[in-house]
Order: sequence, then C-alpha cells, then structure tokens
Amino acid sequence: MMKRFVFLSLFCSVLWACSREDLSVCSPDGSLCVNVCLQEDGSLSYYVKRAGVFVIMPSALGIEADGISLSDNFSILQTEKSSVSTQWETVWGEERLISDEHNALCVHLRHASGALLDVCLRVYNDGVALRYSFPKQQQEQWVITDELTEYHFASEPQVWSIPWRTEYYEGLWQKRPLLSVADTLCSPLTFELEDGSYAFLHEAALTDYPAQNFFVEDGVLRTYLTPWLSEMKERRTSAGESVKAYKEAPFSTPWRFIVLTPTLSELVASRIMLNLNEPCAIEDTEWIRPQKFLGIWWGMHIKTMTWEAGPKHGATTENMERYLRFAKEHGIDAVLAEGWNLGWEDWKHFDFTTPYPDWDMDYLSHLSDSLGVAIVGHNETGGNAASYEQDLDSIYRYHAAHGIHTIKTGYVAPIIRTTDGLQWNKGQSGVRHYRKVIETAAKYHIMIDNHEPVMPTGLQRTYPNLLTQEGVRGQEWNAWSNDGGSPCEHVTVLPYTRILAGPVDYTPGVFHFENPIIPTTRVHATLMNQLGLFVCFYSPLQMACDLPEHYMEHPDAFRFVEHVPCDWERSVLVDGAIGDLCVYARQGRGTEDWYVGGITDEEEREAIVPLSMLVPGKSYHMTLYRDAEDADWSTRPYAYVIEEMEVSCADTLRVRMASGGGFAAEIHPIE
Ligand code: NOJ
Repeated sequence: MMKRFVFLSLFCSVLWACSREDLSVCSPDGSLCVNVCLQEDGSLSYYVKRAGVFVIMPSALGIEADGISLSDNFSILQTEKSSVSTQWETVWGEERLISDEHNALCVHLRHASGALLDVCLRVYNDGVALRYSFPKQQQEQWVITDELTEYHFASEPQVWSIPWRTEYYEGLWQKRPLLSVADTLCSPLTFELEDGSYAFLHEAALTDYPAQNFFVEDGVLRTYLTPWLSEMKERRTSAGESVKAYKEAPFSTPWRFIVLTPTLSELVASRIMLNLNEPCAIEDTEWIRPQKFLGIWWGMHIKTMTWEAGPKHGATTENMERYLRFAKEHGIDAVLAEGWNLGWEDWKHFDFTTPYPDWDMDYLSHLSDSLGVAIVGHNETGGNAASYEQDLDSIYRYHAAHGIHTIKTGYVAPIIRTTDGLQWNKGQSGVRHYRKVIETAAKYHIMIDNHEPVMPTGLQRTYPNLLTQEGVRGQEWNAWSNDGGSPCEHVTVLPYTRILAGPVDYTPGVFHFENPIIPTTRVHATLMNQLGLFVCFYSPLQMACDLPEHYMEHPDAFRFVEHVPCDWERSVLVDGAIGDLCVYARQGRGTEDWYVGGITDEEEREAIVPLSMLVPGKSYHMTLYRDAEDADWSTRPYAYVIEEMEVSCADTLRVRMASGGGFAAEIHPIE
C-alpha cells in the first residue's frame, strides 16, 4: 500500500512537471503524444500516450559520462519545435517512395556542472524516437560510461528477443513476459502488448557508438551499451566506470525509437528507422544494383565441398564456370564463390588478392564479363578486422579491376580484432570498422553483403551500397547444426523481429532435403516454403542457396526463383502472426507484376489473399506454386502443385499451406 502511495505521489509530481505545453509533442495525426518532464531535482523523464492512454509511463532519460552524471540537476535553456512532411525515393527497397511525416521537439538543457545536453524527439504517426546531442561546448572530449534511457510499459507486454551475447545474433528468438526477463537482451525487441497492439524497439543511425542492449530492473526496461574491452575485460575509467564510448562534442547518439502500431501489418510497414538515418551520401548510385545470386557455398555447408584447396575444393575455375553458365541460362544475375583465396587451411591469415592455384581469376573475370553474370567476391576475415581494414584500398582495387563489384564480408570470431585490439563487434570500435568498410567500398563502387555484422540500423539509406547483412540464424544452420536444424517456427518469427532491422541474407531456396554427410540435420520446410521465403524475407541481394543440380531436380518450381525480383515498388503484409505465419504481397519495382509468398510454422493453415491490390478492370495471369494436399515438411516436402489461372482484383486466393509449408505466386498483367 505504502509502495503504491509513493508511486502515486511521484507520478503526480511528474505530471505536474510535464504540464508545460512546450515540453509536449504529438504525431501529425495527433494519435501519439510524448511529454518530456523535468522534476524538481532537475532529473529528466518522458512518457508516451496513445489516444490519451499511457503506453510508456514516465521513464528516465540521461547519460553518465566520466566524472559527470547527466541524470539530474538540469535546467531548461530553450525548447524548439519543428515539423517535417516530405517524401523520398529509395535507391532500392521494399518500396520506391517513403514518406517522412513527423513533429519534432528539441529540449536544450544546461546541467549544474555547466555541461550542455539536448534531448531531441520525433513523433511519427506510428512511433516515437529520441536521441541525445552534445552541442559544441567547453568540454570537447567525452567518455560515455552509461545510458539511462528507460522504457516503462504501462502494461506488461510479451517480448520477442535474443540474448545480448548471442554469437553473431544467430539465435532462435524467444517470447516471454517482459517482467520475467532476467538476462540482458539484444536490440531490437518486438513486443506484443496486452491490448493486442505491437511495438518494435531499436536504434537508428548507429555509426560511431556502441550498440544498445536492454535489461529489466524493477519492472522497467533499461539500456545497456556494449562496453569497450581491454584484455578481454571491460575497459574502466580511472573511477572504475565501464567505458562505452569515446566522443568529441559536438556529437549525437544514435536514435532510439519505438514503433507503436495497432496491427502487425502496420508494424512491418513502419519506415521510422530509415527516416531517422541521414539521406543518401552517394551522389551517383547508378552502379548499385539489387541482384539475385547463386553460389559455391551450400556444398561447403553440407560438406560435399571444401573452402580450402584439395580434392573436394569448391571454388575451382571449372566449377565456377559451370555455375556462371548455369546462372546465365537461368537469368540469375550473379554467382558467389567462397574459398577462392589463400588462407582457408588454418584461418590464420586470409589473403584477399591471391587466389588458390586452381582459380584463374583473369579467365573467370573475362567469362563473367562476356556472359553478363557478375561474380560476388568473398572476404572472410576470421575476425581480423584490423588487418582487413589496413588493406581495404588494395583489396577493393583488386576486386574492382577484376569486375567484382559485390563482396560478401565475414567476421567469424566471437570477439573481433579491431585497430583497438580485441573488441565486441558491436562495441564502438567494431561499429567504426564496419562503417569504414562501407565508405571505402563505395569509393570503388563495391556493394557489401556483411556477414557477422553489427545489427543493422538503417544505414543503407545513407550508404545504399550496404545491400544486405546476415545477423541471423540463417539457412546454413539447417546444414550442420547440432540441434538438427531450425524449427519450422523460426522463419515465421524473423519477418517481425530481425528483418525489421533491415534486409537479411538468410539464403532461401533449398530444393533438396536429404543431407548425406550430416543426415541428422534437415531444413524443416517443404519446397514451397522455400519459395515463399523469396517474398517474405526481404533482401536486395537475394541468394538462391542450393546447388544447380538440385535446382534441376525441380526445374518447374525453379522457374519462380528465376522470375522473382528482389527490388520492390510496394510491399504489403497480407496476413501474419509472430511465430505462426507470414504472407506478403510485393509489386516488382517499375512493373505491374505482383509476387505473393506465404510461409507457416509446423501447423498447416489456409492463407487468404484478397487480390485487391491489382488494378481494377485488368486481367492478370497467375502462376501458383503450392503444397500438394499430402505435403508435409517431414514426410513429403517435395509434394507440390503448379497451377496457371486468370485472376482479377475481385478474386481472393485461398491456399492451404502444409505443416512447415508455404506457397508462392507470380501475377502478371495480360496485355
Ligand atoms: C559464416 C557465414 O555465415 C557463411 O555464409 C560463410 O559461408 C562462412 N561463415 C564462411 O565464411
């Protein structure tokens, strides 16, 4: 009772302190409002209401720096409000046009120590963002030791998360009541709120700062910044605080944002993260092209090939020629080759400009040019980011000289070696490294597919040559994982969790489910589920991961892989439930063609897709690839049916998805 009273009186004083009109800002449609509050002790907090009802209760704001706690003793110098209503065109994306409509509030504060801090907020119709800015001031150098931002949900939500130390973010997402969380969690988090609505909490524009993580304390979600390391332990200031970031004023932290929407379709359609990133920094983007690619890759994961040279070497001239010619024949843009360069025997020193003797770079580069099928290069660093960074220019010059303009990078090592020694890849030093790679690659017109990345935060708006990233428990786990492969549910969680942070190189498209060398593993899917992934999982660099000979076991189904684009005019989540199913419809960029994809978990379900997105009065030809009546991922994964039919916007597609199943459809206007 006493506790409740204390809470109520605190709450009233907070409300009193927040009543200033200039400390409140609402979304353009008025539905979401944020108030910043300055309490009597000069401490800061904020709260969020939707339609007048609390979603986020008063929650603390603040930063700890070496020697100064910027958490209380603030006074307000000035407040500023502004509004934005604009639209911008993506270089590639889930849609061509993105609108940015928000109202903003910046609160300029002076701390008792004399330090200046701004808290800036943006309120969109579908969410709220905030960040801290240190304006130019007397103290230039800052050592950030903690961030105090809290998220106090008004009612207890369920949260989907992976632990903050999940290696490379390659974990199975778990759903729990927020208050039962006892461990530290990775950003992002996806929430199912008590009232049936959804939230997505993440950060945007992470460039020279540690990635955020979260933990729950006293019923409140709190921020934990990834620390710097020294000799594998947290680096400490002389006062014993854990170092999180070294910064020089003026600077801003990344944006912290929370998407709040009544439905899942609106949650996945939110573009707050991209809007919070800086506009494109590359003037000429003509060279940046979304691509579908095959690869000398799956063979290594199912162990029928090796990365290193030897009798089963995958990346040989002969093999690559076969893949390039196959890609040409089937209209696939590019082919990845892993294991083409020296260093795979012991992973000690990868050489990114010297091929193995059985790889003729000049020959393959000419062949790729004459066929018009690009080569996707591969730079596995084994976590030695420092040595990679040192040679970036010469490595990219070498690749560009051989016509290679897309590179898959890799950092397989739980702790990477940066120019600052051994560090978490999502600490400030790692984040700086990835940024340097993207910027240097842009100079050489090289596009990046970053494996073992830091969690994406929308940087592709500024550097659209960062096409896609891993940071997911991808298909490869189905080749060799000790637990036998990801459960069916996994793929129905990702569109609402990891993929909301940005494009994913999951590598869909397994067409052959028997694994002779590691028979205990299995892709928990039907072949139609694998097709559905090409639409449900967005990536502008989309890999069809299986072997050409496996694709030729089902050439009729492979036709969908040949046709499906990876750059879109418009995207709509038609039906979805986190951990159950996902059905997307996407319109090919610059075309009137639509592609629909559906996936389900272990439960068989019927997908209902109204074709209302089609132009009224027009007729379309649809090819539907669906599970056969007796299909089932574990017993009959290859049982499928392909049907051709004429459809219009008045039709509704009803498709049964088998256990672990799915479907795909391509819809083209009849001229
Ligand atoms: C892990 C990556 O995810 C995978 O795609 C790659 O084949 C291996 N590392 C080797 O670099």
